[in-house]
Amino acid sequence: MTVSVIGTGYLGATHAAAMAELGFDVIGVDTDEQKIKSLANGDLPFYEPGLPELLRKHIASGRLTFTTELETAAEAADVHFVAVGTPQRAGDTGADLTYVDAAVAGLTRLIKRDALIIGKSTVPVGTARRLQAMVKELSAPGLSIDLAWNPEFLREGFAVEDTLRPDRLVFGVDSPAAEELLRTIYADAISRNTPVITTDFETSELVKTAANAFLATKISFINAISEITETVGGSISTLADALGHDVRIGRRFLNAGVGFGGGCLPKDIRALQARVSELGLDRTMRFLTEMDEINLRRRDRAVFLADELLDNDVVGKRIAVLGAAFKPESDDVRDSPSLDIAARLFNQGAEVFIYDPKANANAAKRFPRLGFADSTEEAVQGADLVLLLTEWPEFKALGPSDLAGLVKSRKIIDGRNVLDWQEWEAAGWTTRTLGRKSVD
Ligand code: UDX
Repeated sequence: MTVSVIGTGYLGATHAAAMAELGFDVIGVDTDEQKIKSLANGDLPFYEPGLPELLRKHIASGRLTFTTELETAAEAADVHFVAVGTPQRAGDTGADLTYVDAAVAGLTRLIKRDALIIGKSTVPVGTARRLQAMVKELSAPGLSIDLAWNPEFLREGFAVEDTLRPDRLVFGVDSPAAEELLRTIYADAISRNTPVITTDFETSELVKTAANAFLATKISFINAISEITETVGGSISTLADALGHDVRIGRRFLNAGVGFGGGCLPKDIRALQARVSELGLDRTMRFLTEMDEINLRRRDRAVFLADELLDNDVVGKRIAVLGAAFKPESDDVRDSPSLDIAARLFNQGAEVFIYDPKANANAAKRFPRLGFADSTEEAVQGADLVLLLTEWPEFKALGPSDLAGLVKSRKIIDGRNVLDWQEWEAAGWTTRTLGRKSVD
């Protein structure tokens, strides 16, 4: 079977390579010529562990090709995955569906045989139903073009693993034929007893947004509790460990710190609120505004602590920022808490030097005036203050003596609760941790 994947960003590029790995002939399509050129050469335009190898393997096997021509995909494939972006709309909080609409409409106009279009993009509830009507209207007479929604739950940094071995499969369908085809496509995962949830369009769309809203809420919940421990004392990590032993709660996504960022969680909680407001349910998701605010307040807190440690005299101070990506194992700086904090300190007059193992280039594109270093040692050289804001393993492994001879002042802020601050304090450092009461 030949499948196409429309949109070759994180989601689409990973999905295309994974489908080739599963034995399908795959055509990846994107409007971005540069991206297609580099993918066709086996160069991944972003960092994702394991993906370059998979990409190259299947370019070599001949099962994976790339094109900017939607027509090529329409002609060759029976199944089309739509994996284009749904970013936040400019000037408002709703999702921008321009790319999804354009992909589905463009494809439908070009398809000349029966086909299944499978939406993978994260969309506001009601989108699939609307697209189904659009497909019906635009398809050539006599053709049967079916639509299904099959949300993707992949995490950056684990994209290959999450795609090849998903923890569940959600099929939003409106016909038994669509379900049957989806079961054929995902036969490998299904044979390994991956749970399959077959449902309607609305549920499938909502599963994805609800999952991301829940995860964002979980992070903001622990960060709200961390505002209490910052005031009364106590250890937010110990508290999270104790909560996590309750299997109904679980320990994951309870790491307090500078909060969530990235291309999904922030935009998805805003898009969900925007959508339910359109539906007349203004109050229903209002708490997500609070979750958003708690999350953003963490960044204020990090800036506040930096100001405090520099005696409210940030101008001209040299600040080392460890980490620019929104999380480790990624070079993605979209809505990255660390980059936001770095830029704010720069705007207050500090000299900021960032080191991220993978995200320096992307961070520099966004904030070219910040300083960038090629190693932790270079970043912290002569620093008046160090901020650890993305928990890459090499930063977690740092000990006080690694940096002591390099910095100007032994001051560090742990924005991710990953350092043993007592050990650092014992070695003569002044430390601050997000979620810990400040005492000197
Ligand atoms: C998320 C969802 O996890 C994934 O299922 C969905 O498909 C896309 O959105 P991703 O954006 O890759 O994936 O990142 P994720 O691992 O969820 O982390 C999001 C943010 O939350 C990061 O900035 C991370 O640092 C932060 N985070 C995560 C915390 O602050 N604390 C935690 O305990 C966990």
